[in-house]
Amino acid sequence: MTSDVAPANGRAPLAANPSRPRTFSGIQPSGVVHLGNDLGAIRNYVALADQYEAIYCIVDYHALTSTHDADALRQQTREMAASLLALGLDPDRCTLFVQSHRPEHAELMWLLCTVTPVSWLERTPTYKEKVQQQPDDVNHGLLTYPVLQAADIVIYKASMVPVGRDQAAHLELSREIVRAFNRRYGETFPEPKAVYTEAPVVLGTDGVRKMSKSVGNTIDILGEPDLVRKQVMSMVTDTQRIKRTDPGRPEICNVCQLQRFFGDDYEDLWEGERTARTGCVDMKKVLAERIIRHYAPARERYAELMAHPTEIEGILEAGADRLAPVATATMAEVKEKMGLR
Ligand code: TYM
Repeated sequence: MTSDVAPANGRAPLAANPSRPRTFSGIQPSGVVHLGNDLGAIRNYVALADQYEAIYCIVDYHALTSTHDADALRQQTREMAASLLALGLDPDRCTLFVQSHRPEHAELMWLLCTVTPVSWLERTPTYKEKVQQQPDDVNHGLLTYPVLQAADIVIYKASMVPVGRDQAAHLELSREIVRAFNRRYGETFPEPKAVYTEAPVVLGTDGVRKMSKSVGNTIDILGEPDLVRKQVMSMVTDTQRIKRTDPGRPEICNVCQLQRFFGDDYEDLWEGERTARTGCVDMKKVLAERIIRHYAPARERYAELMAHPTEIEGILEAGADRLAPVATATMAEVKEKMGLR
């Protein structure tokens, strides 16, 4: 393969036509990586990087629809990169980069906007939620958000997208946009498919809503142990279990459900709940200590990385450089098909 782009960090740029199927996902630089992100998506980012050509993106353009503090955005972008690396993304086995470092995403978004009816965007559930959440800041970016998400995926012609279930509507819209484009201009993009983990929806500490920073019901897995303890101890369990002697119902208890991901003995723990041998507080204490132990190496690695910001910047720049040939090739093909050259 020939390319004008120098190998980044000793790794060759990505080929326009991949030898392995490509997977792509994006994550917002929200400032805190929580248990829902890891169980719902990041674990799959790591697992899929073994089998596929994996590209992962910190979506700072998307974040601008809700964050308007430049310093905070810069800091949170770095924190998210450090979090992903600490949780096991290996820059030698996947490509990690920041969305705005490849401005072709925004250019392709505009082109895709021209095949996307406004009505598709207005009916998107996340748009309606955002209108409720930030009524004084219903900026145009909120409406166009899913088109940018489609551009993120299709610019690399990725066929698989590891995400949590909350992204299902966005993924469906990406597929519709791809179909609309291919219908009008000829077969160009593959229809991307969502790939879910065993925990596609992780509930927050309230036990009702999806775990999310904007709701404030998170377990911050790379936070200090005392913070994790506090968050886990605040979790709502089986609301029908009033007295300590009442039998518990592990199937509907969020704490019990999460035990499945932190030890093979969860059936025994569940039996203890069903027979009221253990109480909800016991179960939360076990969960908190297991989460803290499980993420201890990642927490250490995170601190090391944050102490060496140039290492993080280097990885992100190298990632964006590796993607240049693919992004350029897709833009050339799309512009040709649309009559722009
Ligand atoms: P974001 O930043 O909200 O979330 C990142 C990933 O974490 C998953 N996730 C969850 N999974 C299960 N349970 C939860 N409680 C939970 N909370 C978050 C999300 O599903 C997601 O996979 N719009 C996207 C970012 C994006 C993107 C893309 C994703 C932009 N471009 C292209 C895929 C492909 C978002 O805001 O994710």
